Amino acid sequence: MQPLSIANDVFWLGDIDFESRDFHGYSRSPLGTTYNAYLIKDEKNALFDTVKEGHGPILLEKLRQVLPPEKVDYIVVNHLEPDHSGALPLLMEACRPEALICSPLGKKSLEGHFGSRDWPVRVVTSGETLSLGGRSVRFIEARMLHWPDSMFSYIPEEKLLISNDAFGQNIASTARFADEVEPALLRKSLSEYYHNIILPYSAQVLKILDAIAGQGLSVEILAPDHGLIFRRPQDVASTLEAYRDFALQRPRKRALIIYDTMWRSTERMAHALCRGLADNGVETVVLNLKQNHHSAVMTELAACGLLAVGSPTHNNGILPLVAASLTYLKGLRPKNRIGAAFGSYGWSGENTKILGEYLSAMDMPQPVDPLKCPFVPDAAVLNACEAMGASLAAALEKHCAAACS
Ligand SMILES: Cc1cc2nc3c(=O)[nH]c(=O)nc-3n(C[C@H](O)[C@H](O)[C@H](O)COP(=O)(O)O)c2cc1C
Ligand SMILES: [Fe+2]
Ligand SMILES: [Fe+2]
Repeated sequence: MQPLSIANDVFWLGDIDFESRDFHGYSRSPLGTTYNAYLIKDEKNALFDTVKEGHGPILLEKLRQVLPPEKVDYIVVNHLEPDHSGALPLLMEACRPEALICSPLGKKSLEGHFGSRDWPVRVVTSGETLSLGGRSVRFIEARMLHWPDSMFSYIPEEKLLISNDAFGQNIASTARFADEVEPALLRKSLSEYYHNIILPYSAQVLKILDAIAGQGLSVEILAPDHGLIFRRPQDVASTLEAYRDFALQRPRKRALIIYDTMWRSTERMAHALCRGLADNGVETVVLNLKQNHHSAVMTELAACGLLAVGSPTHNNGILPLVAASLTYLKGLRPKNRIGAAFGSYGWSGENTKILGEYLSAMDMPQPVDPLKCPFVPDAAVLNACEAMGASLAAALEKHCAAACS
């Protein structure tokens, strides 16, 4: 693909990773992803971010089609994670810029990733401006969105916000703009990305959204480093609004049941619980953790106010895939949910106590007592699971109403 002009003398030079399914070793990117880098041509030329190592030669080739690399005066490194800085050594060598620009904490991350190099590092802080001639760049530190070093670059003359990881989506497509794809696909990808990467930093998201509004930053082009670029006012506005909505984590009247099982007793309990919830007006999704990666669980939990988790007792504990998913969810700090625990056991039956501890660690109160069943559930146990679903439906209704009042 050619470099693409996204505004007057502003170019997208990134690469599309159609093959990516493992995102950064901890999450999944079921639709692939892109690594976006941007170039502004002016009296001074500035490159914003690079790409993942291995994609560097493509970035360099695209850059050459716009400008000889040695004409790049500044390389702005908004974030040091290797998907954006892996190709930095290659680009530094090819461009030999007057300055490599990063945030104060970016300087630390730079040393942590590349050791001490004789690169001309220039540290900028929030509010500092760099003149490119006809245009300028205003830097906005976005600490913990999602690393300490993270920074946005705002170009007021173009009303362009280069937001690095924030507002990204894992979509590999030849489409470059958000208005070129199905709105539902875009919204799902934006949510999937937020809930697997940004969610723990929701408080910072609200602050930065307020700062954007408060400083009167007018954004007409919102250009993240993954996925599609927002170029229509309505798309920019709805994306900022979507982030506010995600960050507020208002509870939804929808339930997620996750479980693993050895001999399917816990699975039968999961399905009976699902019937109880659904019969009482709660749309419910059931995910078997052998078939569903923990990032898919988080994506689904995004729209659910109730998490019910099931595991049999296994060697005085719970099954490892259940522990893995709960460990992952806990790290993402979901808020404002209620929980429930269930599962089958044989003799010692520690399962629901352990599940309850995970739920407590996520501040998910259990409004209904855990339900455990010795070996294979009979009709009475399955009825009890359905009744548990009915009680949980009522509790969820109350929880949602309380949060809205
Ligand atoms: C390898 C293995 C280890 C188990 N360890 C325990 C245990 O420590 N304590 C217990 O109460 N039950 C234990 N059980 C019994 C299971 O919890 C019981 O068979 C349960 O019904 C399985 O539910 P499931 O069909 O959902 O897998 C174990 C079963 C297996 C196969
Ligand atoms: Fe990142
Ligand atoms: Fe990234």
